[in-house]
Order: sequence, then structure tokens, then C-alpha cells
Amino acid sequence: MGTNLDKVVVLTGAGISAESGVPTFRGEAGLWRTYRPEDLATPSAFRRDPALVWEWYNWRRELVARCEPNAAHRTLVEMERHIEDFVLITQNVDGLHQRAGSRRVLELHGSLWRMRCTVEDRVVEDHQVPLPSIPPRCPCGALMRPDVVWFGESLPSEVLSAAHDAVRRCRLLLVVGTSGVVYPAAALPQLAHHAGARVVEFNVERTPISAYADEVILGPAAVALPRWWAAFISAAKSLTAT
Ligand code: OAD
Repeated sequence: MGTNLDKVVVLTGAGISAESGVPTFRGEAGLWRTYRPEDLATPSAFRRDPALVWEWYNWRRELVARCEPNAAHRTLVEMERHIEDFVLITQNVDGLHQRAGSRRVLELHGSLWRMRCTVEDRVVEDHQVPLPSIPPRCPCGALMRPDVVWFGESLPSEVLSAAHDAVRRCRLLLVVGTSGVVYPAAALPQLAHHAGARVVEFNVERTPISAYADEVILGPAAVALPRWWAAFISAAKSLTAT
């Protein structure tokens, strides 16, 4: 295990929130009614039936509002406190990193807790659960949409470029609970690996990232990540002491 308390990046996916009770996308529980996320998280699904898409987001907001951050989220808060150059990049839209106390989070895929006017592009934060009216409308009268990235849409360019910068200069990348199949997020661990960083993966099963990761730690993130961090910090302390 390397012990550099410097230039650490963490990339998280749905698996980090699994033990909080948030269903992952590619697991069975990711289905709502009979729809797969790929059927609803698209611009064309929204054009066809905005109320249906908003009902799904309303359900997800209600579900996440009942969940609490877990030990893995809390470990990342600790890491942010201890590591000077630390960047947390998430594909999750659940907001659990922020609720745990993480301050700087690059949200690649947006947030369930923001909505955006389809005409004015104005973004508002909204935590009402349940939503008082579906589909929500902007004061200008236009439809609001969830401020998330849907299939076929580009990621917010400033967030993606900040993520690229962080990953290019990091010395250690932790990848936690992602299937590593949705691009461009899935390219970030490859980028870190090619730039010479050590890549450590945490997952309950092997993924395409496992093939080139320097270390694969199999197990639930809420157990494995706090354990790894405790060992990391004690190794770093004993190095400083000598
Ligand atoms: P996925 O549902 O694709 O993958 C979740 C990963 O978490 C899998 O590899 C699981 O093995 C792993 N996992 C499950 N439980 C775990 C646990 N307790 N501890 C650690 N790992 C666990 O979710 P993402 O990789 O986040 O995009 O999906 C990426 C993107 O695809 C999402 O952001 C979303 C989705 O479609 C958009 O909505 C644009």
C-alpha cells in the first residue's frame, strides 16, 4: 500500500450508496415499475411523457430522502479533512456525499436535488419530497427537467474538465462501487492508470477496471473503505514518525 497523503482522487458510483438502501442501476432493484433506467433517463422519454419521467424522479427523491449516508461516505469526509489535495468525483445523483459532509464534490451526472428550466436553463435547488406538482414548472411557465445527465447527453464540460485535471495529476485513485461501463466516467480510471497513478478498486465483484487496477478490494464499500483508510492513515503516521 502506498502512503502518499497527497494528490488523491476518489471516483464513486452507485455501489457506494448500496448499503444506504439506494438501488444500483444495474441491479434488480434498479427497476421502477417495469422500466429500466435506460427507458426513462433520456431526452426522448421526457419529450414523450414528462410526467412519467418526473414520477420516476419523485420516487427516487422519496427513496433517497429516507436513506442515510453510510460508513463509506463518512470515510470520504475524513479523507477530505486529512488530505490536502483531495478530489471527490461522483457519478451519483443522490447527494449522499454532501449529506455526509463532503464539501467539494464534482457531480459528473448532476443531482436529483436540482431542476432546470427547459427554456431559460435556470437551475434551482429543490428538496421538496414529494414534489407538490408533477411535472414541475418554472415561474416562466416552461417545463422544468431534472438537472441530471441523461443517456445521449454530454456531461457538464467544466465538471468533466475539472475531473480530468484532477485525475491526470493524482498519485492515487480510489474507484468505489462503479460497474465501469458508462463513459466518459469509466475512462477516468484508465486515464489515471496511464498517467502513472496507483489505482485501487473497491467493489463487491470484479469489473472491467479490475483488469488494470493495482489492487482490487472485494467487499461492501461500507466495510472495506473504512478498513482500508484506517490502515492507510496508520501507515502514513508511522512513516512520518520515523
Ligand atoms: P451500476 O449500477 O452500473 O454499478 C454499481 C456497481 O456497484 C457494480 O459494479 C456493483 O458490483 C457495485 N456494488 C454494489 N453493491 C456494492 C457495495 N455494497 N459496495 C461496493 N460496490 C458495490 O452504477 P454506476 O457504475 O454508478 O448514469 O453506473 C454508472 C452510471 O450509469 C450512473 O451514474 C447512471 C447509470 O446509468 C446516468 O444516469 C447518466
